[in-house]
Amino acid sequence: MVKNKAQHFAQWCFLSLIFSIFTTAKALNYGDALAKSLLYFESQRSGRLPYNQRVTWRDHSGLTDGLEQGVDLVGGYYDAGDHVKFGLPMAFTVTMLSWSVIEYRQQIADAGELEHAMEAIKWGTDYFIKAHTSPNVLWAEVGDGDTDHYCWQRPEDMTTSRQAYKIDQNNPGSDLAGETAAAMAAAALVFKKTNPHYAHLLLHHAQQLFEFGDKYRGKYDEEGRMGVVKSYYASVSGFKDELLWAALWLYKATDNEEYLRYVINEAENFGGIGWAITEFSWDVKYAGIQVMASKLLNEEKSKKHSSTLEKYRSKAEYYICSCLNKNIDTKNVERTPAGLLYIRQWNNMQYVSTASFLLTMYSDFLKSSNQKLSCHGGIVGHQEILSFAKTQVDYILGSNPSNMSYLVGYGPNYPQRVHHRGASVVSYRENKAFIGCTQGYDNWYGRVEPNPNVLVGALVGGPDSQDNFVDQRDNYMQTEACTYNTAPLVGVFAKFSELEVQKELDHIQDLGLVASY
Ligand SMILES: *[C@@H]1O[C@H](CO)[C@@H](O)[C@H](O)[C@H]1NC(C)=O
Repeated sequence: MVKNKAQHFAQWCFLSLIFSIFTTAKALNYGDALAKSLLYFESQRSGRLPYNQRVTWRDHSGLTDGLEQGVDLVGGYYDAGDHVKFGLPMAFTVTMLSWSVIEYRQQIADAGELEHAMEAIKWGTDYFIKAHTSPNVLWAEVGDGDTDHYCWQRPEDMTTSRQAYKIDQNNPGSDLAGETAAAMAAAALVFKKTNPHYAHLLLHHAQQLFEFGDKYRGKYDEEGRMGVVKSYYASVSGFKDELLWAALWLYKATDNEEYLRYVINEAENFGGIGWAITEFSWDVKYAGIQVMASKLLNEEKSKKHSSTLEKYRSKAEYYICSCLNKNIDTKNVERTPAGLLYIRQWNNMQYVSTASFLLTMYSDFLKSSNQKLSCHGGIVGHQEILSFAKTQVDYILGSNPSNMSYLVGYGPNYPQRVHHRGASVVSYRENKAFIGCTQGYDNWYGRVEPNPNVLVGALVGGPDSQDNFVDQRDNYMQTEACTYNTAPLVGVFAKFSELEVQKELDHIQDLGLVASY
């Protein structure tokens, strides 16, 4: 029987009510976490804010970005607690948001958040379209870390340099071109059905950017190119991972075998089947590539490449097993005493968030193909992988020794002094009196009081190796949040919110209540 939306809703309200009567301990609310995670991207918006902006303590900013260079670079995202628009992490953020929607579209839609997720993606891709001014020119950054960090200002007051930097054929940046191509190809898949014209446009840019990156090879952060980015977002793993990553996304988006052949032919040369790495980030994409390539093994049309794809898969398994603590001794990811994956001191949560995403997806992949994972430490089923991913997500949301949600604005206890210029200074909407560069440091940065604005949905850097977290604004290793921390969580929260709904329904069925309505 097909029910209409209102009936579904009424039924759902009734079931929720019954359920809440029968449960004492309140389970984590992943649907709420999902909705909040998407609000965060509105806080990070640069440019002219739209009429339906929900985060109302923000206002327009960066309205002359690109003007000096004669190009319109208004829009895009600030990466973290400052006001530089860094192309590489911005593109990775958009790729992960898009991947979240591609894998968990239905779950996001069921939670009523699909439109918000698509808006978050489009805010990034609209900017990439502007920044890609000709086939071999991509504007890579606006502002610079050094001058930006001298000031503690709201974005609306910004007086720092808005110098823009680009890559082109004389100053190549295959890493940046590759990641931006990946982001636009992934986003094209997101918009394919609802906005085919836009999807087509994105694909066109993605294909050109990949060609540019592949033909003019080099790292974007080299001296004489974009040395300005070196201390902030240096591409340590080089550009080979981004080229493989872009080719995979383009294959997914176009079905053009040429891209798959690239992934197969360059597998060895580009380290795709050589690197076994235990972290996945805006810089190092091998684990993501390897998981994506593994999933191709399920498709009939890629069967003829199965020997190379199997090699990709063995490295993907290395990554998954290392997170599960099931590799040979020294090849596992460390954990804090309370069980949080621990890679490094500075912004560790970014790695927890990407790992949770890949684990959740890999669990789905095993389930759908009716397979198990074989680690050095034993055979693992899809349910065990998902359960482990859940421990990480639950830790993030407050199941940890500090009872602290590291997702800002979620639950009763969360970081109050996020290292974030806009959030830590009185809202521009409330007080438009100009706040200067050092005035911000003097009057707002050093305050012990909580931030006046809550940066809802931000995932902060999180605790140290001993689960300790110090909620101070100058403790940027732990209290700063970045757009690429939250992006993978969009998919993960959607997945767990679906399971929670399912569990509640099962529970009601167990109680024999379903027959009563
Ligand atoms: C965290 O919550 C638990 C259970 O409610 C409680 O026993 C514990 O003392 C709390 N810890 C902190 C640091 O507040």
